[in-house]
Amino acid sequence: MVSQQDGSPEASYDPMAQFAELAGDVRDPYPMMAGIRADSPVMHVQLGTGSGARYRHDKKAPRISSLFTVTSHELAQQVLTDNVRFSSAGYAMTMGQVMGRTILQMDPPEHQRHRALVAKAFRTRVLDRWSDTIIGPCVGELIDAFARDGRADLIPQLTFPFPVRVIARILGLPEADWPRFLRLSTELIAVMRNWDRAVAASRELRGYFGEIIADRRRHTRDDLVGQLIEAEVDGRRLSDDEIYPFLLLLLPAGAETTYRSSSNLLFGLLSHPDQLDAVRADRNLVPQAIEEALRWETPLLTVARSATKDLELNGVSIPAGGFVAVSLGAANRDPGRYPDPDAFDIFRDPVPHISFGDGAHKCLGMHLARLEMRVLLNAVLDRLPGLRLDPAAEDPHIHGLIFRSPPSLPIRFDGSR
Ligand code: HEM
Repeated sequence: MVSQQDGSPEASYDPMAQFAELAGDVRDPYPMMAGIRADSPVMHVQLGTGSGARYRHDKKAPRISSLFTVTSHELAQQVLTDNVRFSSAGYAMTMGQVMGRTILQMDPPEHQRHRALVAKAFRTRVLDRWSDTIIGPCVGELIDAFARDGRADLIPQLTFPFPVRVIARILGLPEADWPRFLRLSTELIAVMRNWDRAVAASRELRGYFGEIIADRRRHTRDDLVGQLIEAEVDGRRLSDDEIYPFLLLLLPAGAETTYRSSSNLLFGLLSHPDQLDAVRADRNLVPQAIEEALRWETPLLTVARSATKDLELNGVSIPAGGFVAVSLGAANRDPGRYPDPDAFDIFRDPVPHISFGDGAHKCLGMHLARLEMRVLLNAVLDRLPGLRLDPAAEDPHIHGLIFRSPPSLPIRFDGSR
């Protein structure tokens, strides 16, 4: 949590409040999704009827005219792997407004060219290096701050600051800048909630990254910014205006999702103590616990596509330009693919989930996300003996209709290491 004793915007800023609001206070959207999927896995949503309108939208955020939801696993996969009939260009209207032209909104062949430039930086070989030099120390420092207390709230004290710190270090940002970086990142991510504030944050972040890029141009460094400066598309170097969007995309793509997925993993285990004990006793279970947590409570419920032409999907006509909301959450709980889908069960037969998307845009940071979750869980188990939910915790739960995670996660533990 940011707390500074000065008059800077960081001093009075509470990012957790904004993030809790952004999630939307919906406890369990899954029965509703199951009903929709059973009824019609591709559904035309009548806009303006108030359905699902519990999430307040900023009035300036763009409106969509024609909306379809996709809720079965098979059809979700079909849409995400078919970039001829389904385009990602619609993100230009939302995230693109504050981030510029990112790979998220590009279609082939432009998409492959740009993605290939940054993909190198996220290969597992590079990540192994970050594990000891960046990710481990970030978790260690955060746990140090509460390890003697016997109690903590794992969200503000661990899972929330953790991935932004990792990204700040990957980008080589000076530590003194982190509070400002955290505030701006949070404001940018909340774009659909507070349009003006996100646009202002985007402007300020551009100025900030401008200085970092200029510095890297003067003093070459082998970090992510250094690699983007050296990278070439079609035989030419990227301009600053092409580098900014990628740096801005890393915040929502890498920080928001990983904070929520780590929180969901810890919540799943803490609320199923027998499974927590099993993982504590046998760390070989960590990877399957991570995959089950990602399936059970995906941090990002929906991704968006638009129809490139008039088309039919599962017998439903979608007009050219129709907005298609692919529900990763519903797909991950499709009973045709996962028996007893609502249960958190790390011992279930391993069947891949769709939380990282699919097709050409499948998450570029998924190896990093898994690594971050693994390092975090192992550190928590190593350093907080007797870890359990605080019996006095009031109603611990996961909520959210756009993003999902627990608003707080109070724990107790016996001592510290
Ligand atoms: C558990 C954590 C994460 C989840 C659940 C997640 C989920 C996703 C999903 C669903 C997409 C596809 C969006 C679409 O098809 O419209 C995506 C794309 C992307 N993710 Fe992640 N993500 C996570 C962590 C990360 C991290 C740690 C990074 C990097 C620091 C990252 C970087 C990206 C980028 C750059 C894209 C765009 C890829 C493209 O358009 O080709 N993500 N992510």
